[in-house]
Parts: sequence; structure tokens; C-alpha cells
Amino acid sequence: MKFFVSLLLTMITGLASAVEPASPGISDTLDERVKPCIICHRDADRIDRDAYFPRIAGKPAGYLYNQLRNFRDGRRFYQPMAILLENLSDEYMREIAEYFASQPYTYPEPVAPALSSTETESVETLLYSGDPERDLPACSACHGEALMGMQPAIPGLLGLPHAYLAAQFGGWRNGGIMRGQIPDCMSEIAKKLAQEEVNALALWLPGLPVSGQPAEAGALAPELAQRCQTILAGKEVSR
Ligand code: HEC
Ligand code: HEC
Repeated sequence: MKFFVSLLLTMITGLASAVEPASPGISDTLDERVKPCIICHRDADRIDRDAYFPRIAGKPAGYLYNQLRNFRDGRRFYQPMAILLENLSDEYMREIAEYFASQPYTYPEPVAPALSSTETESVETLLYSGDPERDLPACSACHGEALMGMQPAIPGLLGLPHAYLAAQFGGWRNGGIMRGQIPDCMSEIAKKLAQEEVNALALWLPGLPVSGQPAEAGALAPELAQRCQTILAGKEVSR
């Protein structure tokens, strides 16, 4: 993996200028400009082979935009992306986010999880009921009943590979190593979960078939919106 990443870094440094808006007169379509991104974030094809690179096509635009700003501003860490995004304006990142949000995507086939019935029950409780004793809202209260996310800035939980889910939870729980340097609702929730619960969630979710639509903007209960305000405050993007 190390060799692969350094090879990519070399390619990307060469391509980085392609991401920046071209001077007038030069052929300048978004399709051209996002080429460096597609080296890593390809399609379902790539995801199957290497789950390390998350899908970005079809995710909510506001969510993608927030992540691009996080990488650029050092709140989420992945060096190759930080290099690519270094000099991009908010405006331009919003265009890139809109572009990927509108790209079609073929999801990978569900992978059946091997969980005990107790683990399954605990996962389903977390997903659809939460745990008031720990002040844990149901995942579905924010990610939508269908777990397909909520416009404009909450991503869906389906069609994500196990390795990616496990890595994101690791990042939130270890506080700021990979993401969530600023306290936010998702790192707060991840820290309240037991490691066994995280493991079970990361196995269970990839087993669910992707279906349904993201919930409409505005469906978030005010107290939950309040909890996520550091994230949602930057949600200028609408779709
Ligand atoms: C060298 C490979 C590579 C390149 C090139 C790359 N990315 Fe990424 N990207 C990644 C990896 C790996 C992650 C996951 C990092 C993490 O989990 O923190 C990621 C994460 C993301 C995320 C967050 C996804 C999510 O679901 O939270 C977005 C959005 C994104 N990239 C957009 C882009 C865009 C736009 C470009 C082009 C300007 C780009 N990436 C170029 C490897 C790359
Ligand atoms: C209070 C609202 C809220 C609740 C409850 C919540 N989430 Fe989230 N979740 C968010 C927000 C907001 C984001 C986007 C984070 C960001 O932009 O950095 C997110 C992001 C995620 C992501 C990242 C997806 C991706 O594409 O990278 C995963 C995975 C996730 N949540 C899982 C869960 C699980 C599992 C639960 C239940 C145990 C849960 N969330 C409960 C608000 C919530």
C-alpha cells in the first residue's frame, strides 16, 4: 500500500494543476478537472478491489463539500488529498461536490455478515431505536429511516465497505487522528459506542441491500440538528 500511495502521489503532484480552474481559452470542463480524483475514486469496480478508497459518486453534495473543506483545512487527514485541495476555493470545491453528487453509481453486492443473534439484535436497536440511557439517538434519526442519508449533508450508511466503516469509526473514536478534530455529533456518538458494537455495525451495514432514497432536507429533528451544528453550519450546498 505504501508503494502504491507514493506512486499515486507522484502522479497527483503532476496532475494537481489540472484540478485548479484553467485560464480562459483552455478547454476547461469539470470532467477534465476531476481526472486526478478519479485515479482513486473510480467506480464500483475499484471499490470491490480495494475498499480503502471510498465511493464519492452519488453521496449528498453538502456532505462531500464539507469533507473537501475538512481535508483542505486539516480537520480530516489524508495527505494526497490535502495536496490536491490545498489551493482550491470554497466555491470551486462546491462545484466539485455537486459534480460527484450527481454522478451515477452501481453499488457493490451486499456481503452477508456472520453475527450472532444477540449481536444482530444489538445492532438493530442501535440503528432504529438508539439507547436513551447513553443519550444515543437512533442512527436512523439522522441517517434517515432507509439509512440512505438526509439531504444536504448527512451521508447514507448503505453500500459502504466494511474496511471503510471500521476505519471511520476508528478515526472518530481516536479523536482527531483521521477525522473529527473539532467535537461533532458523529465523533461524540462513536465514542459512546462499545468496540464490540462498532465491530458489529461495520459488519452488519455492508450486508444490507442498497434501496430507497435519502430523506429530504428539513427532516432532522431540531435537537439533533443542534447536536450536529458544527457540521451542518457549513451546509450552504443544496441539491
Ligand atoms: C491518492 C488517492 C486519492 C485521490 C487522488 C483523491 N482521493 Fe479522495 N479520498 C481518498 C481516500 C483514501 C479517502 C478516505 C480517507 C479517509 O477516510 O479519511 C478519500 C476521501 C474522500 C472524500 C470523503 C468521502 C466520504 O465518504 O467521507 C471525498 C469527498 C473525496 N475523497 C473527494 C476527492 C476529490 C474531489 C478528489 C480530487 C480533487 C480526490 N478525492 C482525490 C483517496 C484519494
Ligand atoms: C445526531 C445525528 C447523527 C446520528 C444519531 C448518527 N449520525 Fe452518523 N453522521 C452524522 C453526520 C452529520 C455525519 C457526517 C459527518 C461529517 O460530515 O463529518 C455522519 C456520518 C456518518 C458516517 C460516515 C459515512 C461516510 O460516507 O463516510 C458513518 C459511517 C456514520 N455516520 C454512521 C453512523 C451510525 C452507525 C450511527 C448509529 C450508531 C450514526 N451514524 C448516528 C449524524 C449522525
